[in-house]
This record gives sequence, structure tokens and C-alpha cells, in this order.
Amino acid sequence: MRHVLAEGCLLEPQVRAHAHEMFAVLSDPAIYEFENEPPASEQWLHRRYELLESRCSSDGSAYELNSEYWRRGIGSAAVQAMLHELGTQYEVERYVAVLKASNFRSLGLLRRLGFGSADESEAAAWRDTPDELVMVKAARRIADAP
Ligand SMILES: CC(C)(COP(=O)(O)OP(=O)(O)OC[C@H]1O[C@@H](n2cnc3c(N)ncnc32)[C@H](O)[C@@H]1OP(=O)(O)O)[C@@H](O)C(=O)NCCC(=O)NCCS
Repeated sequence: MRHVLAEGCLLEPQVRAHAHEMFAVLSDPAIYEFENEPPASEQWLHRRYELLESRCSSDGSAYELNSEYWRRGIGSAAVQAMLHELGTQYEVERYVAVLKASNFRSLGLLRRLGFGSADESEAAAWRDTPDELVMVKAARRIADAP
């Protein structure tokens, strides 16, 4: 995996060496207003990141950002850069995001990046629980560029 440069931030592949610094970030209750819970211990997070180094997430976890830095455009810049990376380097043609319907911050970020609501049949295929929204966006192919 490559490092991806976004406006105002550098996206690095997640590795276990990040666990110590990320434990403090992920212990912030603000992150869990809509779903999930903080890591049980730094040791647990270390194990988890070790597993994720394999690049095969089994639970479809989404992005998280230290709440001290929210609403500065970092989240959308980072996700936009990752969409570009997926489209250009991995030929991904369609992006799908699943989020809690109440997560207005995440919904705002996705709308800002051009995601729209999936139609009901596609949403049903992705949704795990009734309180989730499914948003989709077609990747802009190089051939479509002006
Ligand atoms: C969701 C999250 C990544 C957004 O990151 P961010 O860097 O704050 O997002 P941005 O500054 O790029 O904002 C993008 C859009 O999101 C929406 N948004 C973000 N914070 C908001 C807030 N406090 N109130 C209302 N809308 C908000 C806005 O529509 C914003 O666009 P705008 O500033 O042009 O109005 C961040 O809030 C977070 O980590 N939340 C906790 C974890 C989580 O919910 N992850 C997503 C799971 S699906």
C-alpha cells in the first residue's frame, strides 16, 4: 500500500506501531456518540492493529478522527484522497458507505463528497440493521474527465 497525500494530511497504512498513539485518540467518548465503544486496553488495540496489518478487515470498520481536529475539512480531504486512490490505483468503480442514520457528521461528510442515497434494493443488500443508511457514489473514470 502507498502513502496517500491529501490536503492537510498524509494517509499512512495502519500498522501496530500506531497503537500507542491511537489508544489516546480512540479513548475519547465523543467518537462513540452513534456507535461502537473505546478499545478495552492499549494491549487489545496493539493486537487489533497487528491483525489489521494484514489489510483484511473482517468487520468493515469506517474512518475515525481525533475529535480535537473535527470540522476542519480533514475528514473529507482524507476520504476524498482515498476515493481517488481506490479509483485510480485499484479500478474501483462504485463506492458504498454504510452509517448510522443519526450520524449527521458522517452524513454531511459523505454528501459533501457527492454521495447520494442508495435505492432501496441496493440499500437492503448492504444494511445490517434498520438504523443504518447506505450512501453510494460512482467513481469518476479517467475517460469521463474533461
Ligand atoms: C465523521 C468525521 C470523520 C468527520 O470528520 P471532519 O474532519 O470533522 O469532517 P469535515 O471537517 O471534512 O466536514 C465534512 C462535512 O461533515 C459535516 N460535519 C462535520 N462535523 C459536523 C458537525 N459538528 N456538525 C454538522 N456537520 C458536520 C459537514 O457537512 C461538513 O461539511 P461543511 O463543513 O462543508 O459543512 C468525524 O466527525 C469523526 O471521526 N467522527 C467519529 C467517528 C465516526 O462517526 N466515523 C464515521 C462512521 S460511519
